[in-house]
Amino acid sequence: MHRSRTPLIAGNWKMHHGGLSGLELAMAVKASSSQVPLIDLLVAPPFTALAAIAHEMDGSRVLVAAQNMHAKTHGAFTGEVSAPMIAEAGATWVILGHSERRQLFGETSSGVSEKIHVATQAKLLPIVCVGETLAEREAGNTLGVVSSQIAAVIEAFRETPSAAAIAYEPVWAIGTGKNALATDVEEAHAHIRSLLEKASPTLAARTRILYGGSVKPDNALSLLEQPNVDGALIGGASLDIASFGAIAKAAQTLASANQV
Ligand code: PGA
Repeated sequence: MHRSRTPLIAGNWKMHHGGLSGLELAMAVKASSSQVPLIDLLVAPPFTALAAIAHEMDGSRVLVAAQNMHAKTHGAFTGEVSAPMIAEAGATWVILGHSERRQLFGETSSGVSEKIHVATQAKLLPIVCVGETLAEREAGNTLGVVSSQIAAVIEAFRETPSAAAIAYEPVWAIGTGKNALATDVEEAHAHIRSLLEKASPTLAARTRILYGGSVKPDNALSLLEQPNVDGALIGGASLDIASFGAIAKAAQTLASANQV
C-alpha cells in the first residue's frame, strides 16, 4: 500500500444478496464506514438490488458498482443491461472482465477493452480484472498472461478517470480458499505497475491495483501491506459484514500507519 493512493476495499457479491438482504448488508457497510475514514469502500450487488442500494448509499462514503454490463448502450439484447442504465440506477462503478465472465460466459480481452470504453463514456469507473489460471501458473506463464491481458485493454484504460482500478485475481485462488503468497501477489502487482508505467508514468502512479482471491480477515494485512497492493476485491468474505468490516479495518490500520 502506498500513501499516495487511497486504498479501495471492494465487495463483489456475485449472485448473492439480490433483494432485501442486500439492502441490509449495504446499510451495515454504510454504518461501518465512519470507522475507516482513510479508505474507499465499494459494494457490487446483483442488478436486482442495484438501484435500491445506490439510492440508499447516495451521499454516503460507500461506492456502488455493477458486476458486469453489455458493450452496447441500447438495443434488442434480451436480458442484458447497459452502461447508461447502470449509471441511471445510480451506480458509479462497474466490474469488467471478471474471470467468471471470461471463463463461464466467453468474454475476451478485446470485448473487455470495448466495455471499458463504453463504461467511460457513460461516466462509470471500471475495476478491470486480470489473472492467470492454475495451468498457466504451473507452466510458469503468470506474468505473460497478465501482460497480454493488460496489453489488450491499456488504450481503453488510459481514457478512464484517475480513480479507476485494476484487480489482479489469480483464477485458482478465487473462491477456493487457496491463497496466493504475498510475495507472488507483489510480484504480479509490481509487474502490472511496470506495464502501466510503460504506457504512462501518471497512469502507473494513479491506478489502484487491487488483489482478489480468497481475501479473508486473517490474510488481509499481509496482502495489503505489499507496496503495490492498493486494496482488495473480495467475494466470499464480502457477504458478511463482520468479515468485510475486519478487512476494511486492516486497510485502515495500514493507511493510518502510512500517514505518520
Ligand atoms: P473470493 O472472490 O474472495 O470469494 O475468492 C474474489 C472475486 O472473485 O472477486
